[in-house]
Amino acid sequence: MPENLPLVLITHALPEEWLTLLKGHCRTLTGPMDATSFSPELASHLPEAEGLFTLLTIPITEKILASAPRLRVVSNMAVGVDNIDVPGCIRRGIPVGYTPGVLTEATADLTMALLLSAARRLPEASLDAREGRWITWAPAGWLGMDLNSATLGIIGMGQIGRAVAHRARGFGLRICYTDPHPDALIATKFDATYLPLEELLRQSDIVSLHCPLTHETRGLINTTRLQQMKPNAILVNTSRGAVVKTEDLVQALRDGRIAAAALDVTDPEPLPQSHPLFGLSNCLITPHIGSATWKTRQRMAELACRNLLAGLAGERLPFCVNPEVYNT
Ligand code: GLV
Repeated sequence: MPENLPLVLITHALPEEWLTLLKGHCRTLTGPMDATSFSPELASHLPEAEGLFTLLTIPITEKILASAPRLRVVSNMAVGVDNIDVPGCIRRGIPVGYTPGVLTEATADLTMALLLSAARRLPEASLDAREGRWITWAPAGWLGMDLNSATLGIIGMGQIGRAVAHRARGFGLRICYTDPHPDALIATKFDATYLPLEELLRQSDIVSLHCPLTHETRGLINTTRLQQMKPNAILVNTSRGAVVKTEDLVQALRDGRIAAAALDVTDPEPLPQSHPLFGLSNCLITPHIGSATWKTRQRMAELACRNLLAGLAGERLPFCVNPEVYNT
């Protein structure tokens, strides 16, 4: 590999075919597949690195940025960028790439899978069948929620929220949403009613979170909000774990303040095996698999490569979180 090619650090080992676009354009060094923090071996190369290819589990902190004076692009293989010190990148004029769009449908599919599983109590029913508690057809056993005519409240009506609304209409759900930017077109296209958060929580049988994690949304779903929900309501989270205050949710599920939760994301992540959420039969947990389909993950990686290569070439990133870096 020619020494004069720019050095890119890839925080995790990924299938080779996902990264073919990088071939011939840069030298790469890769962290371990299961890295839970920035690998020290990789970090020792930060002073020479011109590009970073990152996953959402690795915080890209001020310390990392300060150790990489030659850095020209950070490319996150995710739509969420809460793991990255974006203000720190802006101060340094470093563009940050992300991967919107390509994971919308897969994440909306998983949201519906969680919603359906929680509404029809699939994890409990499946476990009971497997463990010998299926004695007979039980007229009053494993009763769940009818989706037809139930109300789904979507918090965050961006691309994923809208894709969920599109699917939910097929199940006969009535849709309401809240978003900092209510849009009349959404109301028409999805027959969705805009409601302020508190009213959405009061009216919804299912509340589904699709907002990014920001200062405003961290801890948004806390005891006060959970108390505003219906006692038969289900909370679905496929956004970021920290949008929900975990201890408050545990308490609400224990007290029957809400009926159930289905979480693809948690705070902390991963959730330790001994965590009280795992002990609650009304809580379904999956390990952050919203975008986990072959096609989607490959597309995310390819988009992350395209962002990275544009940054190395000094071109505008196709999908840039902080376009203000181009105004200076
Ligand atoms: C997944 O959570 C993503 O942000 O892409």
